Amino acid sequence: MNSIAFYREKFLTYLNDHIDSREPKNLYDPMVYILNIGGKRLRPVSVLMTAELFDCPYEKALDAALAIEIFHNFSLVHDDIMDDAPVRRGKPSIHEKWNINTAILSGDAMLINAYQLFENYDLETFSELAKLFTRTAIKVCEGQQYDVDYEEQDDVEIKDYIRMIEYKTAVLVGAAMEMGAIVAKVEKPCRAEIYRYGCLLGIAFQLMDDYLDIYGDYESFGKQIGGDIIENKKTFLYLTALKEATPADRKRLLALYGGTKCTSEEKIAEVTQIFERTGVAQKTREEIKAYTKEAFKLLKEINLPDDKKVVLKDFGKKLMTRKK
Ligand code: IPE
Ligand code: IPE
Ligand code: MG
Ligand code: MG
Ligand code: MG
Repeated sequence: MNSIAFYREKFLTYLNDHIDSREPKNLYDPMVYILNIGGKRLRPVSVLMTAELFDCPYEKALDAALAIEIFHNFSLVHDDIMDDAPVRRGKPSIHEKWNINTAILSGDAMLINAYQLFENYDLETFSELAKLFTRTAIKVCEGQQYDVDYEEQDDVEIKDYIRMIEYKTAVLVGAAMEMGAIVAKVEKPCRAEIYRYGCLLGIAFQLMDDYLDIYGDYESFGKQIGGDIIENKKTFLYLTALKEATPADRKRLLALYGGTKCTSEEKIAEVTQIFERTGVAQKTREEIKAYTKEAFKLLKEINLPDDKKVVLKDFGKKLMTRKK
């Protein structure tokens, strides 16, 4: 088996060879920009890695890997508009660098481009990839809508939050792993298991994203710290704080999230202090661990040789301790 770094390198080379700007520049330049300013490439690496785990040369999975990375970037371009996020990967987000209309249309083109890449596969693989992708993309939209709806809702529960992050983030990680298995022509039951493994890691991944939104370091995280607080996002940290806080802190937290969105440093500082007092950082880390452990438990059931399971497990462990 090859290393994560190996797949990342191979993917980047493929990306460079296949992504170029053309006319009209205002449609394609933003796409080239967002795909070239970095990113961990977690999803394409997952596609290539699972293809090889199931004995298929990674080269065959490169188009599927490119498709999912382009789709992921499309979702970020639109997400940054929705979250009013000025920075992505340490650089201005597309709607900041260009404008909102450009970000909408470039995003649309990326989504279509992602689908187009499936045309490079034989009919059966094409059909399986497209079906999985469509199912997944619809879930991502549903998750994104819940995320936005919850900004205004004050009766959100942890189970709602978990469903929301499963849809907006985790299903795509699951789909990445299943896509590798589809290209490798793996049977459906086994495909479903690897999908579920990716989903569980994906839930842990989004919990970590919420955690880093406050406790991350701007330089490595590359996003505005406290962005979720500004946007009144009902994250695991917020919902846990509401449950654990003293009546006074709870009242204050509700008030801080009840008003109109405000970018003040004071709001971020005050919310962070309440989070500190209620120990949500520790509780979030425990939740990340719990979902990762559940994934590892499931891994035991998957029909793969042990040396290959180690690769999947290492991947999960790396995600659990990420700083960016
Ligand atoms: C960001 O995804 C959006 C989430 C689902 C949390 P990543 O953290 O994978 O972003 P990049 O691609 O590495 O920048
Ligand atoms: C993003 O969730 C999920 C999707 C883009 C579908 P976030 O809004 O938390 O992602 P970041 O923090 O902006 O990367
Ligand atoms: Mg966002
Ligand atoms: Mg968002
Ligand atoms: Mg986030």
